[in-house]
Amino acid sequence: MSKKTPNLHAAYALDTPEDHKRLYAEWAGDYDEGFAALEDYQLHIHTARAFVAAGGQGPVLDVGAGTGLCGAILAGLGVGPIDATDISAEMLDQAMRKAIYRDAIEADLNQGIPVPDNSYAGIVSSGTFTHGHLGAEALPALLRIARPGAQFALSINAKHYEKMHFAETLQRLTQGEIQNLTLPEVRIYGELAAGPNKDDTALIALFERT
Ligand SMILES: C[S@@+](CC[C@H](N)C(=O)[O-])C[C@H]1O[C@@H](n2cnc3c(N)ncnc32)[C@H](O)[C@@H]1O
Repeated sequence: MSKKTPNLHAAYALDTPEDHKRLYAEWAGDYDEGFAALEDYQLHIHTARAFVAAGGQGPVLDVGAGTGLCGAILAGLGVGPIDATDISAEMLDQAMRKAIYRDAIEADLNQGIPVPDNSYAGIVSSGTFTHGHLGAEALPALLRIARPGAQFALSINAKHYEKMHFAETLQRLTQGEIQNLTLPEVRIYGELAAGPNKDDTALIALFERT
């Protein structure tokens, strides 16, 4: 297999957990400056603000926390405590250097998260429900660890949302497991973005666990 260079195009083409660990291990040190700043990445800001506007409170789990961009915005908005979970130890290492997270949990969300039921009053995720990453099948693992009434703010790449049939899964969950679902659409990148994905959008799935 050819070596993947750490960029968005390579990330969208990922397949196995080993692929994720390898690419994000390479990308971790350069992600904030080489990707987020250069591409004027905004999704973590929209996600954190939407969580707070919906009344979200800590303790919060940041899912696919990466280098901690979403957690940093949440902390700045006065939310805490915040834990980070991610499949990549190197991305979590960068996140913990920001000194905003209480705990780091290295886990493949597709295999579940090693924390007790009802642990969190809030769940956020920015940029991790996207091409080559997590699908709707990861949602039950998050509902298990959320308390009744817990606020969710999960960004989902709009094309991925269609392709992976999130609408059907969310609709089914509204039959008893989640309530007050809204899906505002936001731009993932700001005015400074220039790449082929500069106009991409995401839906922020806002809901509460019943
Ligand atoms: C595009 S980054 C987003 C990071 C951060 N939330 C942000 O907005 O900048 C996607 C993150 O999802 C993580 N990830 C990918 N697959 C995962 C899985 N199966 N379980 C947990 N984390 C995963 C990657 O390691 C990476 O840190």
